[in-house]
Amino acid sequence: MLGAGVMGAAIAAHPANVGIPSLLLDIVPPNEKKDRDIIARTGLEKALKAKPASFYSKRGAQLVTIGNIEDDLEELADVDWIIEAVIERLDIKHALYTKIETVLTPGTIISSNTSGLPAHMLVEGRSDDFRRNFLITHFFNPVRYMKLLEIVPTNNTNPQLLLFMEQFATNVLGKGVVLTPSFRTLVERKVEKLTRGGAVPLAVRVTCGSQRFQRTVRLVVRARRRSFSSESSADHLLTAVEGAVDILCRQMREAQTRRRRVRTRRSPVDANAPGA
Ligand SMILES: NC(=O)c1ccc[n+]([C@@H]2O[C@H](COP(=O)([O-])OP(=O)(O)OC[C@H]3O[C@@H](n4cnc5c(N)ncnc54)[C@H](O)[C@@H]3O)[C@@H](O)[C@H]2O)c1
Repeated sequence: MLGAGVMGAAIAAHPANVGIPSLLLDIVPPNEKKDRDIIARTGLEKALKAKPASFYSKRGAQLVTIGNIEDDLEELADVDWIIEAVIERLDIKHALYTKIETVLTPGTIISSNTSGLPAHMLVEGRSDDFRRNFLITHFFNPVRYMKLLEIVPTNNTNPQLLLFMEQFATNVLGKGVVLTPSFRTLVERKVEKLTRGGAVPLAVRVTCGSQRFQRTVRLVVRARRRSFSSESSADHLLTAVEGAVDILCRQMREAQTRRRRVRTRRSPVDANAPGA
């Protein structure tokens, strides 16, 4: 976890709540001689005192190790997921990503908690591996209590990673994931690109909706592989579309189940009714 401010410290607490260890790093303040981890330490202390509580139990804090970005950067080579939640400035985030890339192990997931910076700008100048493994995971404050997690990929995000993150955040972190309108735009753009291919060697018609998007999404995919520069780019686009459709359909099924449950609760079967 990079950045131990309001969001970073609380986000670090959340995996700890489900038994996942994390490393919480922040800057070394200028002229600080005594405690180079002071910002991360203070962040963790604040998270421990937070009301409402960030940790399920204070013992959870033992799973959070503190440090600083100068001395402990190399530790990032051994983590599965790097979450960046430093101040909302593109130049500072870019400079930090440049540092991360010097130690990054290929395949490591990287996400930003940015509220407003566009994902495609965040990855400007980054390597292909970084881009493939990058997305925005936007937690809300207070992290433990706000169920919503907004996920925003870029055009380069590996679709399989997107699926994995959606499932991990839902099933392990207990979040309600929303794939943002920009995700929908991404899918629509991909569909548009596919349909420009012309004839119909491959046609998939999907109708699905979800309570969260509050509208039905109709995708008609007509792809002609030779309109792409390579077979793999066509596959990549199709996987993204199929991945999106999977997620939307699942969200729709879940919304239907919830609606059914609510209806059942509102009109319980009268046990004394004839034939009941
Ligand atoms: N506060 C919110 O309610 C909220 C909600 C959702 C998303 N966000 C987003 O989360 C991110 C962090 O927001 P916050 O409210 O936690 O900010 P914050 O100001 O509380 O914390 C930012 C942290 O970044 C650290 N930092 C500054 N420069 C750094 C650098 N070069 N390298 C590493 N760390 C550095 C600071 O020391 C500080 O601890 C932002 O992108 C923000 O848009 C905030």
